Amino acid sequence: MNKTPTNATLGGSFTFPGTPWTIHRIGYGAMQLAGPGVWGPPKNPEGAADVLRAAVAAGVNHIDTSDFYGPHITNQIIQKTLHPYPAGLVIVTKLGARRPADKSWQPATSPQELTQGVHDNLRNLKLDALDIVNYRSMGSIHGPAEGSIAEQVTVLANLKRQGLIRHIGLSNVTATQVAEAQAITEIVCVQNNYNLANRQDDALIDLMASQGIPYVPFFPLGGFTPLQSSTLSAVATRLGATPMQVALAWLLHRSPNILLIPGTSSLAHLRENLAAGQLVLSQQVIAELENR
Ligand SMILES: NC(=O)c1ccc[n+]([C@@H]2O[C@H](COP(=O)([O-])OP(=O)(O)OC[C@H]3O[C@@H](n4cnc5c(N)ncnc54)[C@H](OP(=O)(O)O)[C@@H]3O)[C@@H](O)[C@H]2O)c1
Repeated sequence: MNKTPTNATLGGSFTFPGTPWTIHRIGYGAMQLAGPGVWGPPKNPEGAADVLRAAVAAGVNHIDTSDFYGPHITNQIIQKTLHPYPAGLVIVTKLGARRPADKSWQPATSPQELTQGVHDNLRNLKLDALDIVNYRSMGSIHGPAEGSIAEQVTVLANLKRQGLIRHIGLSNVTATQVAEAQAITEIVCVQNNYNLANRQDDALIDLMASQGIPYVPFFPLGGFTPLQSSTLSAVATRLGATPMQVALAWLLHRSPNILLIPGTSSLAHLRENLAAGQLVLSQQVIAELENR
């Protein structure tokens, strides 16, 4: 990055395996930049651009996005605001779904759809090659379901060989699917639904940590149902922080391979989220949060 991070450490750093890309553990998830229901343009386009610019200026060098968001709009905002991209910025996008006119989320998993999706992302982000593409298995909407993903991962591996994708990750997957994909190509990150209130992936996080692979929780703040609990609020008050900062700090403490991509359309919330890296949680506080 050209700029010195202003939020001290931004949660520390992590290197995507098999890449020279060392990023801050606190990044930014761009889904909230689209309009309501992740559809259409934002109510305040200049505000969306301000959030992106502020994130990068603060040292964020990991942005999570997708052409599903808008659709296409979020990537176009990223391109319009940040291109030419600062050195060291890693943009992670995802494939595997499409948004028909009824605004639903439908699988898009054929070789043609995945290939078209890569070209759409390249055009909308104005890139010659995508840094990381996550294959997002549709499973159930916010959770994985077993079933082979070999065909889709093979298509992405071929697009990687063609130079259109630099690295491949997975999203909304099981440990079995991760292992299946790893037999086909190197997997550099896994992005699943996980937060203080939703810990089904504890074993997968530890498995990924043992392999040096980052685990990137989506819905780190609860997504469409923001996290709230009396314990979270009580701890936050005691530490002079906000409940969302405590929730993010807990994730940073949970495992060193966890990378954060909290989503927000608000400059104030962005600043709050980035500052969560400065929050130190004692073992006692962690136990309190986990036993709530
Ligand atoms: N792989 C997948 O299937 C998948 C699925 C969902 C999301 N994602 C990715 O994961 C990222 C994070 O998920 P997400 O954005 O859905 O959910 P999230 O980060 O858990 O929460 C976002 C929600 O929390 C609010 N918020 C953010 N910071 C806040 C703060 N400091 N105080 C109070 N409210 C706050 C946001 O509203 P405001 O805008 O008002 O701040 C928004 O409503 C997304 O942006 C996207 O890149 C991936």
